[in-house]
Amino acid sequence: MDKLVIEGGKPLKGEVLVSGSKNASLPIMAATLLTDEPCVIHNVPRLRDTLTMIKLLKSLGKVVEFENNTLKITAGKKASYIADYHLVSTMRGSFCVLGPLLAKLGKAKVSLPGGCVIGVRPVDLHLKGITRLGATLDIDSGYIFAKAKKLRGAHVYLGGGFGSSVLATANVMMAAVLAEGETIIEAAACEPEIEDLANMLVLMGAKIKGQGGPRIVINGVHRLKGVNNYRIIPDRIEAGTYILLAAVTRSPILIKNADLSHLIVLLDILEQAGITVTEKDGVIRVKTGKIFKPVSVTTYPYPGFPTDLQAQYLTLMSLADGVSVVTERVYPDRFIHIAEMNRMGANIRREGTNAIVQGVKELRGAPVMASDLRASAALVLAGLAARGRTEIHRMYHLDRGYENLDEKLAGLGAVVYREKE
Ligand code: EPU
Repeated sequence: MDKLVIEGGKPLKGEVLVSGSKNASLPIMAATLLTDEPCVIHNVPRLRDTLTMIKLLKSLGKVVEFENNTLKITAGKKASYIADYHLVSTMRGSFCVLGPLLAKLGKAKVSLPGGCVIGVRPVDLHLKGITRLGATLDIDSGYIFAKAKKLRGAHVYLGGGFGSSVLATANVMMAAVLAEGETIIEAAACEPEIEDLANMLVLMGAKIKGQGGPRIVINGVHRLKGVNNYRIIPDRIEAGTYILLAAVTRSPILIKNADLSHLIVLLDILEQAGITVTEKDGVIRVKTGKIFKPVSVTTYPYPGFPTDLQAQYLTLMSLADGVSVVTERVYPDRFIHIAEMNRMGANIRREGTNAIVQGVKELRGAPVMASDLRASAALVLAGLAARGRTEIHRMYHLDRGYENLDEKLAGLGAVVYREKE
């Protein structure tokens, strides 16, 4: 296992390129199960999670080549309908093979993912959605076995206690594209990753309207074809993380290959804090004064403030000039990073779903433990802003979602390196 060592407090400069979106890549890779024709997809980040999805697709009978961020996925000799426990339990995103397997093969046996460190994370909305399309379900030995001779279009409501669900929308949309008749998904997730998936499905021949909004209308077709040269959108969470890095270290970093239109809420909040983010000719610049103001935020589904930037934003607020409250409405328990940040001198108190942050003058390096992907990113930001040496143990979490993180940071002049534990 590797740890990441950071010598903090050094000014950063230079440019950083944002990779393709992890959370768009995973369902788009699953969507290739809907066709036997070849699919060529560009701008796929090389991450532990995309490599896990490749393993899963191979176990389901696909032949996959992955070079220079381009995936070529073709049909192998025999398709399987069973998604193994080991591949689904290591990455919940694997669960989005359920919809396409069911639509293409008429059956799918997919391990139930279980909880994870950011919360219980049920899959009831996924199951409700595909049941509405006519699938029958059986749960046995930790697997969900879904069957349907023919899926039929239906009116499906996918809102849950915590709002819409990104991957449930992906699963139901992918099942509905080959169903007979019209499906309407209400309270669909509006995330750009869902829009990206729908755009790819449309290129494959699917009939989808309304993607990017809360009401998606799908008219089933008999078959889907392959795609040549689909390009994944930039990773908005990676881009947001680098914007917050520039802000918290007050560094003139130039960020490229990002789509700021997916980060409007972050820019709005940062502006209130006195931090300006501008874009010219595809180059994003972040300007931070000596101090920045505390601004409270609440996470919501898109276009609200993303839960996937909550931890990194906490790092910023821990150095703000006053008190702010960060409320988590998507994953109420996603606060494990607070204790680690406090070990670095932050002053954050959790009260239920609120993190109450009293800004401090400086953070100090410390050995800390990464608990999940975004919590780890927050600790990297804290480590780079802090005085002294930080060691982030269990750095494999970062490799799940940030492509070449240590190299990208080193390219900005940061003193960061991996060491074996
Ligand atoms: N939920 C239910 N029932 C369901 C599904 C979800 O109650 O059947 C609840 C969840 O427990 C949560 C809320 O609904 O409280 C939203 O969860 P959602 O289903 O939208 O999450 P997801 O689709 O499993 C994706 C991302 C996550 C990101 C969330 C929210 C992927 C592979 N994962 O997960 O990304 O936090 O949407 O935006 O797309 C990450 O990248 O670090 C990450 C965790």
